[in-house]
Amino acid sequence: MEIKVTTNNLSATQTLGELIGKNLKGDETFALVAELGGGKTSFTQGLARGLGIKKIVISPTFVLERIYKSRHPLHHFDMYRIEASDADSTGLLDILGEAVVVVEWAEKIKSQLPDDTIWVTIKVMGENEREFIFEYPENRNYAFKNVK
Ligand SMILES: Nc1ncnc2c1ncn2[C@@H]1O[C@H](COP(=O)(O)OP(=O)(O)OP(=O)(O)O)[C@@H](O)[C@H]1O
Ligand SMILES: [Mg+2]
Repeated sequence: MEIKVTTNNLSATQTLGELIGKNLKGDETFALVAELGGGKTSFTQGLARGLGIKKIVISPTFVLERIYKSRHPLHHFDMYRIEASDADSTGLLDILGEAVVVVEWAEKIKSQLPDDTIWVTIKVMGENEREFIFEYPENRNYAFKNVK
């Protein structure tokens, strides 16, 4: 399945994430692909809000992983500084399917992610315009019922 959504500002991106976050069951993996400053962390902030997380989500670039407790726990990873061969040492591979897992720079570890990963490619169309392309298997359709 594929859905495309364009946002025209930061808050629209966060709202998009929130609409998806509200429908999650707790075992989804989101693989985020975008250039630097594309909006990966901003989208994750919205997803967290939809999950009922009150804490502010900040980039895990330097710590590699941040964990937020809520209705469903959220594990937020950033692979920017990680080699594909070191992915297991981050704890990422152990938590897949056991929590909502969001991976920034996921293309680096593509082959190590589950088959039913939700791929989110963000294209920078202009200073404030982002095109989101969601690609996912049919069994993850429920996550997008508020988006279409
Ligand atoms: N429509 C939009 N959606 C999201 N962010 C936007 C949008 N328009 C402008 N921005 C700006 O783009 C930046 C997105 O930053 P963000 O940290 O979310 O990106 P990122 O992909 O996580 O970056 P990094 O590669 O450094 O991790 C912010 O400065 C935000 O204000
Ligand atoms: Mg980021």
